[in-house]
Amino acid sequence: MKIGRVTISDRASAGVYADRSGPEIETVLEEHFPDAQFHAEVVPDEREMIAAALLHCADDLKFDLVVTTGGTGISSRDVTPEATRAVLEKELPGFGEAMRMASLARVKTAILSRATAGTRGRSLIVNLPGKPSAVRECLEILAPAIREGVAHLRGEDPHQGKA
Ligand code: MTE
Repeated sequence: MKIGRVTISDRASAGVYADRSGPEIETVLEEHFPDAQFHAEVVPDEREMIAAALLHCADDLKFDLVVTTGGTGISSRDVTPEATRAVLEKELPGFGEAMRMASLARVKTAILSRATAGTRGRSLIVNLPGKPSAVRECLEILAPAIREGVAHLRGEDPHQGKA
């Protein structure tokens, strides 16, 4: 599985602090997909730069999966969902709903994330909130749907041979 991870943060992209959320995407996804190969990008909270990073991963590099972290909230600089929707062909609103619903029991601020997901070509694109702990919490919830979604986009039948 070829995976692009895109950290969206003004401060991480400027080197003000180290990006911990992008590496956490790798740590968690390697547990679920041991064959995963990663490509990393760090971009500021700029709609055009986010969209360009997503297009590069989906259209040029043709990754199976593109996972973003950060910029999903309601601060003035948070534009990740808008930039993502601008490049999606099919939106998967259930990904964001599932993250928020499952996280809410433990993290009362989970509903401040507007994260979404969807497809572009054969790539599945998924937003995650910015905190490393949120990356793990949300990816654990989404991993089964990511596995099946990637198989669908590859044209595989994940149920073949099953009753
Ligand atoms: N979801 C989980 N699972 N865990 C978290 O700690 N933090 C919330 C929310 N979702 C959080 C979470 C908070 S405090 C915010 S502001 C929003 O995600 C948006 O975060 P972002 O702008 O860094 O993407």
